[in-house]
Amino acid sequence: MSSTILGAAAPGRSRAKQKELGHRIRVKMAAIAAFLFLAAIAIYGADYYILPLDQRPYSAKHELLRPSGTIGLKLGIFGTVLFFIIFLYALRKVIPWLGRMGTARHWMDFHVIAGMSAPIVIAFHASFKFQGIAGVAFWIMLAVALSGIVGRYLYAQIPRSLNAAEMSLGELHDNERMLAEFLLVQSVFTEEQLRKALKAPSPERASRVGALAAIAQMLVFDLAMPFRMAKLRRLGGGSAGLRSLGGLFSSGNREVEDIVGIVRQKAALTKRVLFLDQTQRVFHLWHVIHRPFSYAFALLAILHIVVVMGLGFGGMGMH
Ligand code: HEM
Repeated sequence: MSSTILGAAAPGRSRAKQKELGHRIRVKMAAIAAFLFLAAIAIYGADYYILPLDQRPYSAKHELLRPSGTIGLKLGIFGTVLFFIIFLYALRKVIPWLGRMGTARHWMDFHVIAGMSAPIVIAFHASFKFQGIAGVAFWIMLAVALSGIVGRYLYAQIPRSLNAAEMSLGELHDNERMLAEFLLVQSVFTEEQLRKALKAPSPERASRVGALAAIAQMLVFDLAMPFRMAKLRRLGGGSAGLRSLGGLFSSGNREVEDIVGIVRQKAALTKRVLFLDQTQRVFHLWHVIHRPFSYAFALLAILHIVVVMGLGFGGMGMH
């Protein structure tokens, strides 16, 4: 129900919805595959990776798992493939035909999966020996990936329509109004109960908050949201209390859940609108870290590959 309210604003809704569903399935499958792959390497290699460096050559797995070993080298190549996927996100902004494929939001999902997996794949490739150029590249990559988590949070706060162009403030207000109208006609909760569940700072107060304080307030708002919704479920009565762990999970009551879904959407939208200005400013600043560091790391990674290839894969002391 909740998604239909917002979706009604977009033309070609059901086709867009189907595409979105297909994308969600592909993302889930990619995430599960990445997890299983990394878990398999971790389980298989654990007894090798925990060995002190001087004892590794005596391990039966040394020829396989050392960076230039049969598996180790393939992990390095796979890590490089992941980097290509990661950088496709940036490339699609400058290569028109790439930009026409899919939406930015969809590409971002794969950027995140590849970006989270790559440092782990590379750590396995390096067999946790981070020295020289490759070591510096690894730490920069890790910093970029960790900064990505912050960026991903900010990215989610800047509302985008289904075709991934940022929504205008007018569209956001329209969506907010639509949700508010729906809440007016429901009869499960009183106006006062909904007002409390939707409580947010006034626009005047929000505009006076500094950029970092605004991000902190949004985080607190997001963390408090499940508890606000739990309270609403409990007020909605029925079996909400017991079945849903005090209201933290679905109550099973369709009507209550529909309204909780709308309230959650409306509250999230209000928060984004209130702090949009600050979020955009911090996100802009965040790019100043994520982007140049990722290019610096790419340069070092290329240098590492050139050096290693120049020496013949097994030729480096650290390998
Ligand atoms: C090795 C890891 C990673 C590298 C090399 C990398 C590199 C990049 C590059 C080159 C861009 C494009 C910057 C631009 O065009 O302005 C970008 C954007 C971005 N990345 Fe990453 N990234 C990595 C990991 C991650 C991770 C793990 C996340 C999230 C958990 C993430 C989230 C983002 C976000 C939110 C953007 C901004 C999107 C936008 O403004 O349109 N990145 N990254």
